[in-house]
Amino acid sequence: MAGRASNSSTGAVLLRDVTEADLPIFFEQQRNREANRMAAFTARDPEDRAAFMAHWTKVLADESITKQTIVFEERVAGNIVCFMQDGHLEVGYWIGKEYWGKGIATKALLAFLNHVPVRPLYAYVAKDNAGSLRVLQKCGFTMSGEGKEYSNARGAEVEAWVLILRANVGYDRAT
Ligand SMILES: CC(C)(COP(=O)(O)OP(=O)(O)OC[C@H]1O[C@@H](n2cnc3c(N)ncnc32)[C@H](O)[C@@H]1OP(=O)(O)O)[C@@H](O)C(=O)NCCC(=O)NCCS
Repeated sequence: MAGRASNSSTGAVLLRDVTEADLPIFFEQQRNREANRMAAFTARDPEDRAAFMAHWTKVLADESITKQTIVFEERVAGNIVCFMQDGHLEVGYWIGKEYWGKGIATKALLAFLNHVPVRPLYAYVAKDNAGSLRVLQKCGFTMSGEGKEYSNARGAEVEAWVLILRANVGYDRAT
């Protein structure tokens, strides 16, 4: 789906293909310490701009990864991606701190689920990331298992929930 022109919108939140011009904005958004602690499973060094750009350059070139920019009121509010992990498709997202608490992640994920029809779809979330868990559950994801892995942001092993979206259920729960 990479490169496909897309404009799926839900309310004021719009998804579009990622451009290189978005990358410096994503970089600034992913530097936030609170966001890193929350997400837990993050880049080794969020201040390493070169590593970030190298990673995203690969992501942009990889057609197996679906990536979209989240636009809110014509500004880049974050990104949402879907990639193969351990043999299954996993979704991940990041919203810039100044855009939190406006329903943007929920609307973006709902729009993204229309954009990526493959099921099942998985998510891997630190057990104490209450915001992300709520977003996923509002979009129809349910608990499927648990795991534990090293968190760069916290410098320790962190427990996680594995969530699964088996079918397109729950779309109306966020409205
Ligand atoms: C988690 C994150 C995506 C939430 O984005 P958001 O746009 O603020 O989420 P929404 O506004 O759509 O909120 C959805 C629900 O989660 C709740 N929520 C959001 N952040 C929360 C938090 N920190 N603690 C508890 N609940 C929270 C909201 O109250 C809302 O619930 P409600 O509809 O029952 O009132 C955002 O904080 C973020 O990008 N964090 C850093 C990166 C990250 O953790 N990514 C996910 C990795 S799995």
